[in-house]
Amino acid sequence: MKILVVGGGGREHALTWKIAQSPLVEGIWCAPGNAGMAAVAECVNIGAEDTGELARFAEEKRIDLTVVGPEAPLVAGIADLFQDRGLAVFGPTREAAQMEGSKDFAKQLMLEAGVPTGRAEVFTDYEAAEACILNRSAPYVVKADGLAAGKGVVIAQDDRAAYAALKACFQDRSFGSAGEKVLIEEFLEGQEVSIICFVDGEDILPMAPAQDYKRVGDGDTGPNTGGMGSYSPVPVLSTEGYHRCVEEILRPTARALAARGIHFKGILYAGIILTAGGPKVLEYNVRFGDPETQAVLPRLESDIVEAMLAVVEGRLAGASLKWSDDPCVTVVVASGGYPASYAKGYPIGGLEEAGALNGVTVFHAGTRPGEGGEILTDGGRVLNISALGADFAAARDRAYEAAGKIDFEGIYYRRDIALRTLEG
Ligand code: GLY
Repeated sequence: MKILVVGGGGREHALTWKIAQSPLVEGIWCAPGNAGMAAVAECVNIGAEDTGELARFAEEKRIDLTVVGPEAPLVAGIADLFQDRGLAVFGPTREAAQMEGSKDFAKQLMLEAGVPTGRAEVFTDYEAAEACILNRSAPYVVKADGLAAGKGVVIAQDDRAAYAALKACFQDRSFGSAGEKVLIEEFLEGQEVSIICFVDGEDILPMAPAQDYKRVGDGDTGPNTGGMGSYSPVPVLSTEGYHRCVEEILRPTARALAARGIHFKGILYAGIILTAGGPKVLEYNVRFGDPETQAVLPRLESDIVEAMLAVVEGRLAGASLKWSDDPCVTVVVASGGYPASYAKGYPIGGLEEAGALNGVTVFHAGTRPGEGGEILTDGGRVLNISALGADFAAARDRAYEAAGKIDFEGIYYRRDIALRTLEG
């Protein structure tokens, strides 16, 4: 089979690396890819949002399956476009992708399905939203309805911060049309767990759970980022707790979508808070999590292409996944200054030494090839170092030993990824 992977971050490198292990696969192309993906696939210079050009390329190369990494092309309708042109694609249609493209849509569907989630009110103007804040107490969760490149959710610790978040949406229009509707949501207290799930209509096949780290600094301090690390499995989630998440959250959600006549095909990712009152959904996404995928896929012993084909061909009901018992820890290596401004274009040293360590895989997130054959930094998050180990202590030690071998100007990474798994 010929596979096209759309995207160029750490998640897409992990997907490409796993797809390349499938005996079904004879060639992989990535658009646009990165310097790491170029080692296992051919990178083509087409942006992930250039859906027309991607379809043209898939036709020209006779691609058998296109796997879409990021949410933006899915919400824009890449799956509809590919299906209309007779091209097989792994990812939901535009209508189904509203589960991530509209927080209001997802919230209404969860209420309909009886899925536990935080209470929320929806507003389309500043004054009404401001009145809501006056009648409630902090903390508030203020969410832009649409896609806002990970910046649309603010946890406001006081009224002033909540007004500022509302002003950014309604008055400054910082998120354009994505901020024309805003949800003010109950703050959910507890540890977060991510479950990435293959879905084909009412049939679901959940993957092993993972946890990510959103804040830039050790001890969960500083601003939010695209993710500074992750690990899988999640010791704080018991087998029974996982079962509850599947049966009380993922399955009823898939059924509610089907009841609305929406046939979801692809990945549904539930961000779940383990509250004192049970698991509650924080958000849904319609693609693999980043950087959770980088910690989950090294543990997957089954062929991921088989699972994707089962979704595309409507035979997910009989499919299963086999997992390694070994935990995996992923440390995100970032550019100094991220998530604010940072410089790019620095040569990266130590990639081979890090990747040669037992159990370690170095996924590239923001890299590009330099003219002299060297690999250069090309983003805020540069590398994702994933390490398997017999237990979390061993996996952490390996991931940090590998991170210690990487060298570039301004290198930064958190030192406490997966530390809580050792604290009992
Ligand atoms: N790790 C959060 C996300 O992928 O959206």
